[in-house]
Amino acid sequence: IDQYAVFGNPVAHSQSPFIHACFARQQQQSMHYVATQIDPESFAQQVDAFLQGQGKGLNITVPFKELAWQLAEVKTPRAALAGAVNTLWRDEQGRICGDNTDGLGLINDLTQNLGCSLKGASVLLLGAGGAVRGVIQPLLEAGCSELIIANRTPEKAQQLVQHFAETAGAAVTLHACGYSEIPAKAYDVIINGTSASLQGDLPPLPEAIVGAHSLCYDMMYSATQTPFCHWASRQGAARAVDGLGMLVEQAAEAFFRWRERRPDTAPVIAMLRQSLA
Ligand code: ATR
Repeated sequence: IDQYAVFGNPVAHSQSPFIHACFARQQQQSMHYVATQIDPESFAQQVDAFLQGQGKGLNITVPFKELAWQLAEVKTPRAALAGAVNTLWRDEQGRICGDNTDGLGLINDLTQNLGCSLKGASVLLLGAGGAVRGVIQPLLEAGCSELIIANRTPEKAQQLVQHFAETAGAAVTLHACGYSEIPAKAYDVIINGTSASLQGDLPPLPEAIVGAHSLCYDMMYSATQTPFCHWASRQGAARAVDGLGMLVEQAAEAFFRWRERRPDTAPVIAMLRQSLA
């Protein structure tokens, strides 16, 4: 039976085994998927050993996505640009290949599950860490007309803007700033890619950025409303959504990569939401 795993540290809380078991059942795929905690010193060796044997594919989570990027001998263009890899497999020539499905997971949740059109949209992206790096190119590709990246440390947002400027092209406004300098207007989409929610915290955001039509999206998810979603609702956002759908969608893209089948994500998102409650 084909073996799959998610490598991380910590990884005990990972929902990936549940999600992939649902996909496998639904798509009648004979496969086994487990979560494995990995020591940082042995990461490279464990990846290699897993993919030499019965292991057909790996997901990589915190804190190993950058290391996985370094390990991947072949990278998809979006993974190459993101500087982080969350999906690994071996090709026919035995080379370790890497993709980053996080960004597409976000785009699919926004556009397919939430019916949000990104074409011509003004997007405000909060944060400039690893999680944000992975979603910039897919957001640009989805056709947003404006992408503002705001971060507590503005220099990090500036670096990202420089890194992605070429991809963005001239048609899109790509701009970096600190939270207090966010251009005052109501954005179509506001995405929280900071890890502030993990500490029950919220970046210091100006009020003017939320309009009655704004869709606010937290890349984090939790059983109860995240601080960012709570704040967005209070500001009168049209919708405030957490990242559970993104989690399932990035898994679906990885599953597709490995099994060449596209799972139906809606029932899995619903089941996962129910299991969190
Ligand atoms: P990840 O891989 O989750 O993106 P990271 O690379 O450490 O983790 O990035 C964390 C992001 O959340 C950064 O943008 C960080 O801001 P700084 O670059 O200024 O450190 C942001 N962040 C974390 N805690 C925050 C908080 N309490 N308020 C605002 N931003 C926060």
